[in-house]
Amino acid sequence: MTNPLDQRVAPELEQFIREGTYKRLNFLDSPQGARVRMEGRGEVIILSSNNYLGLANESSVVAAGKEALDRFGAGTASVRFICGTFTIHRALEAACARLVGTPAALSFMSAWNANEAVPGTLLTEHDLIISDQLNHASIIDGIRLAKAITKCQTAVYQHGDLADLDAKLAAARDRRVKMVVTDGVFSMEGAIAKLPDLIELCGRHQAVLVVDDSHATGVLGNTGRGTAEHFGVVGEVDIITSTLGKALGGAAGGFVAASAAVCDYLTQRARPQLFSNALPPTVAASSMASIEYLEAHPERVTALRDNTRYFRDQLLGLGFAPLPGETPIIPVILGETAAAIRMSDLLLGEGVFVTGFGHPVVPQGQARVRCQISAAHTREDLDQALVAFRKIGRQLRLI
Ligand SMILES: Cc1ncc(COP(=O)(O)O)c(C=O)c1O
Repeated sequence: MTNPLDQRVAPELEQFIREGTYKRLNFLDSPQGARVRMEGRGEVIILSSNNYLGLANESSVVAAGKEALDRFGAGTASVRFICGTFTIHRALEAACARLVGTPAALSFMSAWNANEAVPGTLLTEHDLIISDQLNHASIIDGIRLAKAITKCQTAVYQHGDLADLDAKLAAARDRRVKMVVTDGVFSMEGAIAKLPDLIELCGRHQAVLVVDDSHATGVLGNTGRGTAEHFGVVGEVDIITSTLGKALGGAAGGFVAASAAVCDYLTQRARPQLFSNALPPTVAASSMASIEYLEAHPERVTALRDNTRYFRDQLLGLGFAPLPGETPIIPVILGETAAAIRMSDLLLGEGVFVTGFGHPVVPQGQARVRCQISAAHTREDLDQALVAFRKIGRQLRLI
């Protein structure tokens, strides 16, 4: 007899397949890059990864991981405060802080963990956290957890709506700490948060600003220091969370960058620090090598920007109407989830891997294929992808 849980999930899985929303995993058999070897498909062009700078398989980044494996061994074998902190963690954290422009940083196993740690550790029942409506799932779940743990108040402001945020902050004068949290770059839209306005607003209300720069670190600003560099306000954001799993080598890990006191307090009290192992030294070393590569090669960021502009202009030229923006996230809205998954399947048939996203990842009726551009793409890669977009776009009567 099947167990009750299998009985519950099996009909839903069948429903996903019937509705065309079932996610089939594609298996890669080569390093991440502009082109990869996909099991059963051969070589495909990737327009779907967060490998924005192409560092996932950069020789110095890979070599740093190998050297760390020899020097430090495979794992940390403990949580940080017991005996799992290595010198490479300290060096990585100094590099993260230097990159994003804060006095200190603390690494986590993922940016998910970092986003979970911030509100749940730093807030109390006297405080309030206000979140942009389109923030990443890790921020949303971090807030849910914080509410359960600390009994802090929570609120959501309309996406990018500073007037709504202003009103909600004004109504919260009694709160001891008011924390505002936003994505720097919204991962499904590619939109950039209005950081200077947010800084001004938070200053006026004496609120703490937290920016999740996971899609901006290594991407925005002339030297890839993120949303703050893009707007010329490096050093003015209270807390930056970000990932090591995207532009910075793409392995795994995340960090909180903030004042020394906030990082110290998180070291003392954040549950993902106290009850879970630290980053493997290999990953910490590769991430650090990625930051060093970025600091020495700002031209990678320029190449990413040039590729992004080229691909966006060409898509527009073909008659597609991607969401406007200037980041390497270029979404084409299709409506229903099944339509996005179908377009993604057809493009894959043409050797181009672009993921389709539907509800609940994006709002109902706004399913999309999301192109992500990398500095590693050559013009040939992008042109070949555009040929596929033209063919499938015509077939689906989108252009
Ligand atoms: C905005 C944002 N924050 C956090 C994360 C989580 O990153 P990580 O893979 O390091 O947990 C992601 C990953 O998709 C993201 O897009």
